[in-house]
Amino acid sequence: MTATNAVQVRTLALADLTEADLEASRAVLSDAERQRADRFVFPASRSEYIAAHGLVRQMLGDLVGCAPADLVFAVAKEGGKPFLTDPPGAGIDFSLSHATGMVACAVGFGCAVGIDLEPLDRRVSLGIARRFFAADEYAWLTGLAEDAQPAAFLHLWTLKEAVAKAVGLGIQLGFDAFSVRPDPPRLEVPPPGSGTGWRLEQWQPGPGHVAALAVLERL
Ligand SMILES: CC(C)(COP(=O)(O)OP(=O)(O)OC[C@H]1O[C@@H](n2cnc3c(N)ncnc32)[C@H](O)[C@@H]1OP(=O)(O)O)[C@@H](O)C(=O)NCCC(=O)NCCS
Repeated sequence: MTATNAVQVRTLALADLTEADLEASRAVLSDAERQRADRFVFPASRSEYIAAHGLVRQMLGDLVGCAPADLVFAVAKEGGKPFLTDPPGAGIDFSLSHATGMVACAVGFGCAVGIDLEPLDRRVSLGIARRFFAADEYAWLTGLAEDAQPAAFLHLWTLKEAVAKAVGLGIQLGFDAFSVRPDPPRLEVPPPGSGTGWRLEQWQPGPGHVAALAVLERL
């Protein structure tokens, strides 16, 4: 995958992984990642973390021709987007998401990527939408039939998280600073100064989850 703006995406359902799969993923993690995994109180969260980071290492290792365990990552500052430092991942960006029961990873070449996943049975609060979403998103959401609002919230939320992860600021981007819509997934108002080369995708990687991918192409 060396074409500019090429993107690979993989999702894994935890139910499809065996103990041996998880052990193999754990074996390629760094000491720091293993220690972080061990700090999760709930075994399911630990497994999701291990699966997500094992998947990232597998995908990036295949791409750069390096053993997954030898990859080294860094963040520029606390809460920043992780990136590959060794081997230097010139032109490669990646994003991961771990949600209850499923993990996802996107790798982009020559573009910025953000991916997000949520379980569709997650409890949602319209108060969060009122407080954090753009005013037009909240108006769109509350204009829907009441029984459609929880799923619509999660579709918006994952699109917004994916965009915020592609930019690299996460939730610190300010969730009211840009505006998205599902069906078809699109940016109504792009994040300030981010340009126009956005591509958004949304799909259900399984019956119980919604995923979103945001790609910021370098034109
Ligand atoms: C950290 C954040 C980027 C995403 O968090 P999240 O959606 O809870 O968690 P996900 O599993 O989808 O994504 C976490 C991954 O994003 C990546 N990430 C962290 N900071 C990032 C940033 N600034 N930019 C891009 N990616 C980032 C990391 O790889 C992280 O995984 P790791 O810590 O295991 O390495 C941030 O936007 C956040 O805190 N969101 C709030 C989450 C929330 O309140 N959710 C409620 C949903 S209804």
